[in-house]
Amino acid sequence: MSDSALYAQALPAGPIDPDAPLTLLGGLTPATFMRDVWHRKPLLIRQAVPGIVPPVSREALFSLADRDDVESRMVSYFRNRWKLDNGPFAEENLPSRKTRQWSLLVQGVNLHNTAAAELMSQFRFIPDARLDDVMISYATDGGGVGPHFDSYDVFLLQVSGRRRWRISSQTKLDLVPNLPLKILSQFTAEEEWVLEPGDMLYLPPQYAHDGVAEGECMTASIGFRAPAFRELAGHFLAWLSETVEDNEDLSGRYADAGEGATIHPAQLPANLTRAVAERLTAMRWTPGMVSEFLGTHLSEPKPGVEFAEVAELTARKYEKLAQTHGVVLAPASIALYDKTHFFINGEAYEPPAALAKWLRRLADNRCLTPEEVTACAPLPDLLETFHDWTMEGWLQLLPDAV
Ligand code: SIN
Ligand code: CO
Repeated sequence: MSDSALYAQALPAGPIDPDAPLTLLGGLTPATFMRDVWHRKPLLIRQAVPGIVPPVSREALFSLADRDDVESRMVSYFRNRWKLDNGPFAEENLPSRKTRQWSLLVQGVNLHNTAAAELMSQFRFIPDARLDDVMISYATDGGGVGPHFDSYDVFLLQVSGRRRWRISSQTKLDLVPNLPLKILSQFTAEEEWVLEPGDMLYLPPQYAHDGVAEGECMTASIGFRAPAFRELAGHFLAWLSETVEDNEDLSGRYADAGEGATIHPAQLPANLTRAVAERLTAMRWTPGMVSEFLGTHLSEPKPGVEFAEVAELTARKYEKLAQTHGVVLAPASIALYDKTHFFINGEAYEPPAALAKWLRRLADNRCLTPEEVTACAPLPDLLETFHDWTMEGWLQLLPDAV
């Protein structure tokens, strides 16, 4: 348990003005970008982040790849053969930096590194429910993951060194069979650029691309998620059946008083099928329930996330600290809300209106200033809840220096 986990390392960025032109988007406003580009077509942005400082050094990336709570992969193309290995990787088990054509890819860097979390927050003109993570790759000369397509939107930001990107709008997306990674069987580039540090390429889903390092380089992928309907449906039905108290249709159990004696004991009783079918057909849900499910499901912490435990603090001491420092969501915390609920890390609350206002502000700004905490402190249960979340590692305090 540590006290350092009690304090955040930086003040998070709040919501972004949709109508202010952004260097990050090559001078487009978020509103224009979302209307004309997002999910529709690629966009190359030279110097999206001028004077970029890599969020992590190569050494820091390598040590993240050595952790078992961090997802990492190594892709190599040695002797004309693609190979994929999954981490963790001790540095001495990685090929030498002088060996050409290999890459190390580390997922969820934003969960462990404040600069990567800050980078991701620059994209919050896109809803948090869609933002996934920051993946950072390191490659030696000639390294890459081969021509492929992704199922999600992605911003590919060059953070150090140079990478040549080739892209294609081809609709033929067949993959080479029996390979450990997805490689297009045919790739015909239509456009190509060499990206320098600070340059960024946005690609919509299913857009074929191939990025090859020119010398050692690092690339950050700001990735998004779009849950598959089929997968969501499965989770929704499980959620629905777990909320049985609210779901009268699923209360009770099958009963068969009066069922006749059978001479076909292996046959499914028709009454059983009928009774279950009736109950399932009677199951109803409202858009409000779907929203509650989505908020709960999409705010679930990412696999492998463990919140840092903090040293026990008395409620009295906490209340004072929260009002003098303000509170901030831990980088791995996911907070969402809808009309009636507030969701944090997979839990749903239905706060009264006076409280909902502050929780929404916390979710949008990812922090409440000392003045804001002081203003909402008299609300019943609020500081107690903040105290609980802080002890869970979900919420932190802002350090004086920030
Ligand atoms: C990489 O960073 O090497 C791969 C990123 C991508 O193509 O999606
Ligand atoms: Co890709």
